Amino acid sequence: MSKKIIIDTDPGIDDAMAILFAFASPEIEVMGLTTIYGNVHTALATQNALRLAEFAGRPQTPVAHGADKPLVIPFDEAPEIVHGADGLGNTHQPPPHGRPIERSAAQFLVETIMAHPGEITLVPVGPLTNLAVALKLEPRIAQHVAEVVVMGGAATVNGNVNPAAEANIWHDPHAADKVFTAGWPVTLVGLDVTMATQMDNAYLAGLRASRTGEFIFQISRFYQQFHKLAHGIDACHTHDPSAIAYVIDPSLFTTERGPIRVVTEGIAMGQTLMDRRREWLTPNAWSDMPEVNVCVEVDSARLLALYQQRISAAG
Ligand code: BDR
Ligand code: CA
Repeated sequence: MSKKIIIDTDPGIDDAMAILFAFASPEIEVMGLTTIYGNVHTALATQNALRLAEFAGRPQTPVAHGADKPLVIPFDEAPEIVHGADGLGNTHQPPPHGRPIERSAAQFLVETIMAHPGEITLVPVGPLTNLAVALKLEPRIAQHVAEVVVMGGAATVNGNVNPAAEANIWHDPHAADKVFTAGWPVTLVGLDVTMATQMDNAYLAGLRASRTGEFIFQISRFYQQFHKLAHGIDACHTHDPSAIAYVIDPSLFTTERGPIRVVTEGIAMGQTLMDRRREWLTPNAWSDMPEVNVCVEVDSARLLALYQQRISAAG
């Protein structure tokens, strides 16, 4: 039986790569896309989500517009240097035909989870504001969701915005702390594994045989230049597609369990700090907090082979 998922997303080049991967995978039924600021402002994220659903031949997929700003801190600017001004590597895609649904992202999350108790997997691959708002609207979603697979954070390695913080968590640390402590089953697919899997230029060029792969190759050009500039590599990190890979096949990853709290102020704002000590003598902010399932290692070769196979089969 396929898994019903909702992708909460800020497309975004690697978001697009993840969404097309999900649409191309028979293990997954995409119930909707909910949008969030991050790589672009939310209005553009919504347009891009509609475009991607239409490109994939799934124009009926509900797209719900999400929060325009974080819970507490401001959202200043979208990082054009990473994803381009259009969020899709300045490839300037045509406008979408469809429109977002009338309900907000948080309302859509609540309604869909409550209508399918125990069946919905949430896959947030952007800042976690919509999930925090949904938890406030209807706390019972924590008992009714199947799983929450988060692309974000860094439990055993440095961040990518600064040594402490990964971008998705850094944008809304207050929301992230609520998501990690809500008591629902959370898996973290963070930089620990997403930077370990790299799509190099030969791999990306090899995707071009299909229409979907050609699109991915085109949008990846800008992303690759950013990786060259920022990381000195002729490849792209595999962030958001890794969360979809986990949903399809968790055996690609080795995991460790522990409570995670998010630093919400100061120079380490956005850090996902996991208690890995297994010492419980002194009560602290991690005590009695639910454990998060954290991906710490990945079989990159197998993940890349899976991605390649799905994108070429997508046509
Ligand atoms: C995350 O930040 C965004 O730039 C990517 O889309 C990904 O979700 C990686 O840190
Ligand atoms: Ca993203």
